[in-house]
Amino acid sequence: MMDKLNILQGGYFNSTLRTWQSSGTEIGAHNLMYPVFIMENDDGLEPIGSMPGINRMGINQLKIHLEPLIKLGLKSVLLFGVLDKLPKDEVGSSADSDRNPIVRCLPLLRTWFPDLTIACDVCLCGYTSHGHCGVLDSDGTINNPKSIKRIAEVALKYAKSGAHMLAPSDMMDGRIIAIKDSLVEHGISNKVAVLSYSAKFASTFYGPFRDAAHSKPSFGDRKRYQLPSCSKGLAHRATARDVQNGADMLMVKPGLAYLDLVQSLKTEFPHHPMFVYQVSGEYAMLYHAAKNGAFDLKDALMEILCGMRRAGGDVIITYFTPLILDWLSLKSKY
Ligand code: PBG
Ligand code: ZN
Repeated sequence: MMDKLNILQGGYFNSTLRTWQSSGTEIGAHNLMYPVFIMENDDGLEPIGSMPGINRMGINQLKIHLEPLIKLGLKSVLLFGVLDKLPKDEVGSSADSDRNPIVRCLPLLRTWFPDLTIACDVCLCGYTSHGHCGVLDSDGTINNPKSIKRIAEVALKYAKSGAHMLAPSDMMDGRIIAIKDSLVEHGISNKVAVLSYSAKFASTFYGPFRDAAHSKPSFGDRKRYQLPSCSKGLAHRATARDVQNGADMLMVKPGLAYLDLVQSLKTEFPHHPMFVYQVSGEYAMLYHAAKNGAFDLKDALMEILCGMRRAGGDVIITYFTPLILDWLSLKSKY
């Protein structure tokens, strides 16, 4: 006779029983954040070659694109600005100019979609002539004090324009505290959250994004500020640093190759919502594999999302959000 403590299958033979076995790993609309690329031309719609199915959009196109998604329950977006005509310079002046597409878009999005939570990626790489995430010294390395000051200025501009959440994605020391200080100083620290890209690794999987956002560094790489991919220690120290500095939410990025850190960081910091960024390379990888018949996209994606939730992720930032919302609305087996 089988030891009754080893009989597992009696506990998950129908879908209701299975739901009970996966508490905390369900995917609902509130577990998804949708990243979008906003271009200068308000009526523009440009397919992104490296990310099939994803477009850069002008504000008017974005409105048309988001309307049905909101009806399907979309709760939050993450905005990236993409320059076309505005100038790029050494300090990323166009990041917070009044003509910046994010700055122009924020008040409109707030009016059109009052229940949508809007996060802004705050970084300089899409706006600097050299494509690095901060202000550089003459030797081409990051000048940290100048970078932090600039990033905090840009963050404040987005906050004042209507962002609910600021997400500095550069991975430098000291930027969370600078942004928080500035929110306090301007009396809006109770209305704006700071989502830290706390454990962001220097990753090959960002390749398609840099094409999408026109933000590839013109020389060198980002390894002096983003984390070395094999370092668990730095991921924990960087997250501890940002928690200490007042981050409201934490993140691990990319997702799939770093789920051990989602788990260990969630265990060390259980009181902060944990975001997992399924980045552009992960999107492209799944898209192409499914397109070439390796597997069914829905099955593979839902398995991965479940893994991200199981590891400890609370919110998954994913370019697949429209598809997932569609599937959820069909109330299928997932
Ligand atoms: C900008 C930024 C990047 C991503 C988000 N914000 C690229 C990078 O750091 O080089 C990557 C997102 C993705 O690949 O989907 N700092
Ligand atoms: Zn950057």
